[in-house]
Amino acid sequence: MKILVTGGAGFIGSAVIRHLIREGAAAVVNVDKLTYAATPEALEEAGESPNYAFAKIDICDGPALREVFAAHRPDAVMHLAAESHVDRSIDDAADFIQTNVVGTCRLLETATDYWRALEGPAQSAFRFHHISTDEVFGALGAEGHFTEETPYKPNSPYSASKASSDHFVRAWHQTHGLPVVTSNCSNNYGLYQFPEKLIPLMIINALTEKPLPVYGKGENVRDWLHVEDHARALVAVLTQGRVGETYNVGGDSEMRNIDVVHMICDLVDELSPRAETVEGGGGRRDLVTFVTDRPGHDLRYAVDASKIKRELGWTPQESFASGLRKTVVWYLEHQDWWRGILERRYAGERLGLSKADQKAG
Ligand code: NAD
Ligand code: DAU
Repeated sequence: MKILVTGGAGFIGSAVIRHLIREGAAAVVNVDKLTYAATPEALEEAGESPNYAFAKIDICDGPALREVFAAHRPDAVMHLAAESHVDRSIDDAADFIQTNVVGTCRLLETATDYWRALEGPAQSAFRFHHISTDEVFGALGAEGHFTEETPYKPNSPYSASKASSDHFVRAWHQTHGLPVVTSNCSNNYGLYQFPEKLIPLMIINALTEKPLPVYGKGENVRDWLHVEDHARALVAVLTQGRVGETYNVGGDSEMRNIDVVHMICDLVDELSPRAETVEGGGGRRDLVTFVTDRPGHDLRYAVDASKIKRELGWTPQESFASGLRKTVVWYLEHQDWWRGILERRYAGERLGLSKADQKAG
């Protein structure tokens, strides 16, 4: 089986590719534009395999997409390429609309033309797997879970662009018959996550004795899933999912942000004890700083993942406590990677303030 993976140099895409290559499950062609968020270092091992190929392509570039389909003749597409950070979508939504909406449509057009020209079993076995987010469902109150039937109600420009892409994928299936499957996953964490996201930012700031900026009161809840559990779920959806269906993926690990940050502080204290000379002398929890809330901040996400468990036999293997410990250890051991990013691509500054807050600040 040969899979065309878009966004394979990103956090989740690289975990999927490592998984596929290590398991000998498929040959991969990775289609990635290499934006600021790409982490090609995560593919060094996979890059040595004869089953791995890379094409530096923008998914908005139709002719380049047609060439890569013609050259590699994939049996399936796993579409992960996206602008993925909510705060950046608040600052400027243009790239989100371009890549997540226009790029997804270009990819759907190209995949449909390619799929139509396939014959017999190759055509009936072809799959287009669209990787999406639980944020398309909007925000929950204190109770309840997102199911596959929850109505879409995206609140951020990022989630609106992802919701739009989900609708286009569905429309291509209904209108053109393209065999699609979609998965909507909760918050991922783990190795090689770009430091703009909560968990890596807090680990790095705790290690470097910087303030830990918790938005609002830290009471927003996210449902955390280790990225390697997500990678296994995605392969299950691609290979066993029913055409035209959607599958929710989540870790059954709901946590308030403040509790996540406190866990990180305690792990960093244990694994990299603070020098006694540091002011205050106590633990890293004293670095927590409550800052202006994210505009439109969704209160709570929680995913009901019973469909993928029941139908595809997938369950998460990592508990949040064990996964978070492994992640802190990984960031401790890979300081060259994230220090390079801090120097050249993102220095940890606040993103996603409303225009009013920017003015006031
Ligand atoms: P990421 O930002 O780490 O990586 C995105 C990758 O896409 C990068 O390698 C980037 O270079 C590439 N890319 C961006 N624009 C492109 C373009 N126009 N053409 C080609 N490549 C392009 O993202 P991630 O966190 O790995 O997320 C991957 C997918 O999973 C996204 O679709 C995201 O919406 C979805 N998702 C993410 C999470 C999460 O917690 N991170 C949870 C659920 C779903
Ligand atoms: O739910 C899935 C989504 O999870 C994915 O679709 C997105 O691509 C991914 O980025 C993630 O979105 P979030 O907005 O939930 O993740 P983020 O890491 O940006 O923030 C997690 C929570 O932490 C959120 O409630 C905002 C808060 N936060 C974030 C940062 C960066 C802070 O309190 N302080 C921070 O500095």
